[in-house]
Amino acid sequence: MPSLACSAEPETLRARRAALARTLDGRTAFFFAGAERPRNYPANTYPFRAGSHFLYFGGVGLAGAVLEVGPSASVLHRVPSTPEDALWHGPAPDDEALQAATGVDEIRDVAGLADAVAAARAPCTLPAVDLATRLRQARIFGLDWPEDRPVTVGDLDEGDRTLAQAVVEIRLRNDDDAVARIRAACRVTHAAHGAGVAAMAPGRREAAVRAAIESVMLAHGAEPAYGSIVSIAGEILHNTTYHRTLAHGDLLLVDAGAELDGWASDVTRTYPVGGRFLPEQRALYEVVLEAQRTAIEAVAPGVRFRDLHLAAARVLARGLVDEGILVGEVDGLVEAGAHALFFPHGLGHLLGMDVHDMEDLGDAAGYAPDRTRSDAFGLCYLRLDRDLEPGMVVTIEPGLYLVPAILEAEHLGRAFVERKMVDLDRLETFASVRGIRIEDDVLVTEEGADVLTASIPKAPEAVEAAVARRGFAPAG
Ligand code: GLY
Ligand code: MN
Ligand code: MN
Repeated sequence: MPSLACSAEPETLRARRAALARTLDGRTAFFFAGAERPRNYPANTYPFRAGSHFLYFGGVGLAGAVLEVGPSASVLHRVPSTPEDALWHGPAPDDEALQAATGVDEIRDVAGLADAVAAARAPCTLPAVDLATRLRQARIFGLDWPEDRPVTVGDLDEGDRTLAQAVVEIRLRNDDDAVARIRAACRVTHAAHGAGVAAMAPGRREAAVRAAIESVMLAHGAEPAYGSIVSIAGEILHNTTYHRTLAHGDLLLVDAGAELDGWASDVTRTYPVGGRFLPEQRALYEVVLEAQRTAIEAVAPGVRFRDLHLAAARVLARGLVDEGILVGEVDGLVEAGAHALFFPHGLGHLLGMDVHDMEDLGDAAGYAPDRTRSDAFGLCYLRLDRDLEPGMVVTIEPGLYLVPAILEAEHLGRAFVERKMVDLDRLETFASVRGIRIEDDVLVTEEGADVLTASIPKAPEAVEAAVARRGFAPAG
């Protein structure tokens, strides 16, 4: 029988389901794992990854399965394995193995799901991200969800919204089992970044560095938690092309994190390809690093994440004023949004089973119930506006980018030039910078913060030494 990769111990899964049942007031929740998705014809599928709510409460990534969490018992509805399945894919875990791994009270054939939903008192569910599964949910539950975009909490009826809020409340604060697994994913990411540093050199292609990074993830039984960003065009925020050739004087932005047993990590470092930062690169690198350290030092329970974002923005603005790129007084520049020309995204986000944890529910997890997104350029991309609590894991990832389209836009860069807040001529001397981001994964503790990815070098001297020595020490 194959060994089962699980995202939590069975006792943890039982405790999570019991916590959910306590808040559901007699309702019965159904979590869908989702279906395999074809790439180009049905038998050639993308690698299957079960939906995170299913994995969080059910523990095993079984395609087509549905987990029922009732007031007093839980049932795993599975797709039975046929001899033909065993022929092509090997033997599936039997019901006893599944029951032992998940701690559920019962295993049933998913063919009876519609009857189970009909028999349940006040059944509720959350919209799956894949469309095929969403259509199946809509059929079984008699729902009328939009088909042209991801369903978010605002689309849900009251029962499903109650479930969404209950799930968010539980998943926001990671239990010890979850934290241990996120730490393990971070250790893989440490090794992967080390391999990336060893592979980078003038004349190599970005693709070669990506391959080195991801090969370490795969060798650990992990995989990328998202499309790795490995690029000398670091100003393209979600760049997933890898065709450029590295040269002396380039900065290589590496945003790569492993997912291990369903738990994510998310780390960015920015490396000088030639082993030394150019003076103008070093100046702005230090500004980003100071912004990141300022934010990390302020992480503590009760602190509003948006305030951390604004603190980092002020450090960046201060640094840009000192370098002659921004002109004026720091608070006024930040108030006007001038820093956002260079730091347009948010300081960070929740991290857990999803790299942007629970973003399938829109802002239900990232934003406290009484808060909504700003529509100001920059702040509109802030994914997290909650007061921090012990057990939350967040990323802290300020960055600084020179994006021609933003700097030249009439209503953005040009408008600030007209207001004499930005000196584009001075900016030209920083052209080699392109994009710098420094990102760590941070656990909020009772006392403050535990930086889970602190072992990956980020001080400029340490980064230069790592590139020069083609690697850095393994995680302790
Ligand atoms: N790698 C995605 C992010 O940093 O949010
Ligand atoms: Mn990242
Ligand atoms: Mn991130």
